Amino acid sequence: MTANGELRSTQWFGATGRTGMAHRSWMRSQGFTPEVFDGRPVIGIATTWSELAPCNVHLQRVAESVKRGVWQEGGFPLEFPAMALGETLLRPTAMLYRNLLAMEAEELMRANPLDGVVLLSGCDKTTPGLLMAAASVDLPAVMVTGGPMLNGKYQGTDVGSGTAVWRFEEDLVAGRMTQEECVFAEGCMARSNGHCMTMGTASTMASMAEALGMQLPYSATWPAVDSRRYETAQRAGQVIVGLVRQELRPSAIMTRAAFENAIRVNAAIGGSTNAVIHLLAIAGRLGVPLALDDFDVLARDVPTLVNLQPNGQYLMEDFCYAGGLPAVMRELAEAGLLNTDAMTVTGSGIGANVADAPCWNREVIKTMADPFQPVGTGTAVLRGNLAPGGAVIKQSASSAHLLKHRGRALVFDSPADYYAVSNDPELDVDEDTVLVIRYCGPRGYPGMPEVSNVALPKKLLLRGVRDMVRICDGRMSGTAYGTVVLHVAPEAAAGGPLALVRTGDWITLDVPDRTLTLEVSPEELAERRAAWHPPAPHATRGWTRLYGEHVLQADSGADLDFLVGASGHEVPRESH
Ligand code: FES
Repeated sequence: MTANGELRSTQWFGATGRTGMAHRSWMRSQGFTPEVFDGRPVIGIATTWSELAPCNVHLQRVAESVKRGVWQEGGFPLEFPAMALGETLLRPTAMLYRNLLAMEAEELMRANPLDGVVLLSGCDKTTPGLLMAAASVDLPAVMVTGGPMLNGKYQGTDVGSGTAVWRFEEDLVAGRMTQEECVFAEGCMARSNGHCMTMGTASTMASMAEALGMQLPYSATWPAVDSRRYETAQRAGQVIVGLVRQELRPSAIMTRAAFENAIRVNAAIGGSTNAVIHLLAIAGRLGVPLALDDFDVLARDVPTLVNLQPNGQYLMEDFCYAGGLPAVMRELAEAGLLNTDAMTVTGSGIGANVADAPCWNREVIKTMADPFQPVGTGTAVLRGNLAPGGAVIKQSASSAHLLKHRGRALVFDSPADYYAVSNDPELDVDEDTVLVIRYCGPRGYPGMPEVSNVALPKKLLLRGVRDMVRICDGRMSGTAYGTVVLHVAPEAAAGGPLALVRTGDWITLDVPDRTLTLEVSPEELAERRAAWHPPAPHATRGWTRLYGEHVLQADSGADLDFLVGASGHEVPRESH
């Protein structure tokens, strides 16, 4: 609403004279009757649909369901495209463009005659990108994620998208699978519309949106092809019209309490480490105080309740049928680990939303009394002279015997440098070696790609070694596993101590103690720093230049410095 109590869109469509005529007339080229401009709420549907983003390709149909709900409640729905970021195709990484999507969507929401927005996302970066945008504009908003694919099926077993890729690759290198079998298996893995159906980043961020209160209960888990996905989308269309009338905005929903809920839910579902970066970025848009260490402190009391790949056995379809995220949040609420009063898009507190949520399968969703993995197995935040700004490790995806480890560094300045020699039988590496892969941070790659969990050297794989400590300033796919220290900050390209490590240095990882230590004296490090030169920028023009000049480090959410905060939704000036 504006100061004089009218809807924002009325400034456009309710105007008299030349400007009002221009706003309405060109819209009527689509065949709308004049009644749609009668002062009803105008609802934008931001869709990240694209054939280049296969996880989101069905969002056109989801949008149609949203429109039904908007019309049903007396609103006027208008679908518009926002940058579709497909995780699997975009180079050098979709993460390079998350902030561009957030910036584009923010500007479109503000500049257009919208009173509320429905956010349609799916693949990894589209969910946080749209939430960041909605946070900065602060128009009433509801998210509808596209839902996971059906379970992959290969040779009679369930295979999880992403997670199985790492296994298939290892099996190929070790000679347990042929190339032909791999090609056949890749078709079996992705067999319906939807995003990755492991608890990877897309499923995690869909769950975060639900835990934050920004999407309707059960939205995170309905499979993309389930009729209830479309029913929920229609319901979201109804809900957004009500939110506009109530003026319930993202800033009233995504509060500190909501972020605490999301962090604990992420621990309970064994969610992706990428949630750390994305939640920090979303909170930054809202001015909600949230720090990297909150993820460690808040998650320490939370066991992993959900038995899903990559940490466990099952997939999102099973999670849905077992009761979905509300069943998990009910467990947390009953243990006093959920801020139950946190407001949601239903207009109720999240505690009320999940109070009666049933669980139908305790193999998939475990209880606080009998968890899947015990308290203290969530994402840990490490600090030390190798990561003064912090680093993270997903304990539930790590090997227990490596969580306290001392080994000699084997250093590479890029994943490509490593892969150039990783199959060499003469490579000087054993299972105690600590692989350091650097210059993979926000500035370094650029975009902070998911390359940190490099495959093990072939000679170790052939010996049956399945895991080793890896340290990187990049990210790891939420579908991946391994004892990998991630998000080291400051990154090597920004002059972080990671840039100063040399092959042969001793490194100590102590996850119980939350430390990451490079056993090199301060004097020696000072000498190495004096000889270090920052890498040249990746681009002299365009988005990549802007990104490189303004991106923040991982411990601040890797947003652009000038995008932190909000500009609201006021646009006082006419266009003509
Ligand atoms: Fe899109 Fe995994 S590649 S969700």
